[in-house]
Amino acid sequence: MAKHEIANSIYYIGVNDKDIDLFEGQYVVPNGVSYNSYLLKDDMNVVLDTVDKRGTEQWVKNLEEALDGEKVDYLIITHLEPDHGYNIELLCKKFPKMRIIATQKAFDIIPQFFDIPNFEKRKIVIGDGGYIDMGKHTFRFISAPMVHWPEVIFAYENTEGILFSADAFGRFGLPETKENWIDEARRYYFNIVGKYGLQVQNVLKKASHLKINKICPLHGPILDKDIEYYIEKYSTWCSYKPEDEGVFIAYASIHGNTADSAKKLGEILKENGEENVVLMDLARSDISIAIENAFRYSKLVLAASSYNAGVFPPMEHFLNELKGKNYQHRKVGIIENGTWAPSAGNSMLKIVEEMKNMKVCTNKITIKSKMNEENVKQLGKLAKELMKA
Ligand code: FEO
Repeated sequence: MAKHEIANSIYYIGVNDKDIDLFEGQYVVPNGVSYNSYLLKDDMNVVLDTVDKRGTEQWVKNLEEALDGEKVDYLIITHLEPDHGYNIELLCKKFPKMRIIATQKAFDIIPQFFDIPNFEKRKIVIGDGGYIDMGKHTFRFISAPMVHWPEVIFAYENTEGILFSADAFGRFGLPETKENWIDEARRYYFNIVGKYGLQVQNVLKKASHLKINKICPLHGPILDKDIEYYIEKYSTWCSYKPEDEGVFIAYASIHGNTADSAKKLGEILKENGEENVVLMDLARSDISIAIENAFRYSKLVLAASSYNAGVFPPMEHFLNELKGKNYQHRKVGIIENGTWAPSAGNSMLKIVEEMKNMKVCTNKITIKSKMNEENVKQLGKLAKELMKA
């Protein structure tokens, strides 16, 4: 997205990254990602966050063009992670008198990444409720620790009603692509911020009295319509409540027999009137989408083969990821397969039991090598149990 004015005297100066292979070393981003950065030109010129090293050249060009020969007086750091903070040192060297506005936690971390000339003299520490005037525009600050790092703080610009929300409300994909916000925002949220639902709840509460006209996140499009819709989605996600009623069936199958039972359950559920049934082969799917689906739907079915006296690794990996992200409050069905000593069920159960408020269906199914008629009946009972209110 080219440099442009997004509100009176506030410019977007971020950059698009169309060909990154893996965002944060693990997430496939088929439609790229943007590193958003903003410039306020007022009595004081203020940059809000820099960009990833992959975008340095374009960002400097955007910044210089927007500055039109003027200097930067302040840098506000809402989030220090390298996809936003990489060019802090460069900016400090370019503007030797520029001051840095950030939380104490950010200032504690900065020397681990950067060697900033006159670091001590540049520091302006802000915290929750702090504010700073830049001329016609004033920034108020709302601390947002662990959304998604401990130093994160949101900046709310009073005159325009803009919330600079760091990673929150961001999504994968370039800002100008026409894709729905929701799918790539959900995948981003649950995979990157999902563990910190409580902290997101706290910051939403603190921001609830603000009149927000625009949300400017650090990734993806600027949100300037239907603000309530985005806040409502975040409120649901951070509370760990399902967004949609439905059953997500995640399977990990060695020879295809476990997959057959998962698909059969999907058919039975549909025959019984369940409208939302989503199946995913964990060995051949993007795990970040599987995680997103697990959080999205109200019920989860785990179907896996036994392996090394435990469970087939794609399922183990999936469940450990869910546990790490605080997955909770869901109804779960379990299908195991094992030819001589089925072990997948207990291995899956052990991880599920470490999660909060999980309700495991009593109809736990064991398939021995290949689904038989009895198993089909059991799948029918499991479907009924899953669909019971
Ligand atoms: Fe976009 Fe937490 O960095």
